[in-house]
Amino acid sequence: MVVTDTLILPDTDAGVTRASDLLRAGQLVALPTETVYGLAGDARNDRAVAAIYEAKGRPSFNPLIVHLPTVQAAHHYVVWNDMAEALANAFWPGPLTMVLPLKEGHGLSPLVTAGLDTVAIRLPAHPLARKLLTVSECPLAAPSANPSGKISPTTAEHVMAGLDGRIAAVLDGGACPVGVESTIIGVYDDVPRLLRPGGLSVEDAERVLDQPLREAGKGITAPGQLTSHYAPGARVRLNATSREDGEMLLGFGPMECDLNLSETGDVIEAATNLFPALHTLDALAPQGIAVAPIPDHGLGLAINDRLSRAAAPRD
Ligand code: TXA
Ligand code: MG
Repeated sequence: MVVTDTLILPDTDAGVTRASDLLRAGQLVALPTETVYGLAGDARNDRAVAAIYEAKGRPSFNPLIVHLPTVQAAHHYVVWNDMAEALANAFWPGPLTMVLPLKEGHGLSPLVTAGLDTVAIRLPAHPLARKLLTVSECPLAAPSANPSGKISPTTAEHVMAGLDGRIAAVLDGGACPVGVESTIIGVYDDVPRLLRPGGLSVEDAERVLDQPLREAGKGITAPGQLTSHYAPGARVRLNATSREDGEMLLGFGPMECDLNLSETGDVIEAATNLFPALHTLDALAPQGIAVAPIPDHGLGLAINDRLSRAAAPRD
């Protein structure tokens, strides 16, 4: 791997132009989305996509999400259907990824789809991501911009802490407002399937589809098949109401603790604060991180999914 000085590009026209030039030349650029920062490369370029896996140190070729500027662009790559239409109308641009059948002649690198006949696509809502997608005219493959298995980044500083010297640039758009990755829904089947809970609540998706989301079928699903994921250095203990020896307590709702995800008990605010709080506690290197119970509704489902992976036994 060629070690480079990673540029920090500002949220200006010049910053976007530079990021676009780098992407068009097959380089990697981390970009802000409303969920987390993504590590982007041209999804049509095999070398760029391979470089994403290398920079993250991803153990295997998981399929990646392709980010697009418009629904019209999506039609170029996937076979559309009524469920996709309903979800796109309601939630795009936004924190929803849909997995759909690939269209013939799509032109995407086979490394993006890991050889599957479906592809995950998303229209991010973040204005800077949208600008870069439009200016570069590249479909952008982008997993979260963190080394594999580590905590996802919600600021440019988090990205630099994990990937400085391994990528060409990071476009600095400040803190990500949603804070957890997109919800992934498979609509390649006769029924919609929840492949990963995330920034769009399951309840909202089910209301629009007018049916429940089923579990993922057999075969490939979304992340966290790798059970330990999103892991800070310290061990993580869930559903804690008080500290044990050497632990710091991450709270929820009114309580005495070291850091609180949401003093008012708001799961949306807690989702925004989750990864920054784990980064902060991780930097303090406690022996353990104890986390208060989080209700399992709305974005609480995504928070508990990420926390259970952070707490999973490590290899
Ligand atoms: O919010 C997000 O979704 C962020 C931002 C950067 O957009 N991206 C993100 O990407 O979380 P990533 O690569 O960490 O997660 C993508 C997940 C993969 O782990 C994979 O399991 C699933 O999407 N996926 C991708 N293509 C798929 C497919 N064809 N079938 C099933 N799952 C798929
Ligand atoms: Mg990730």
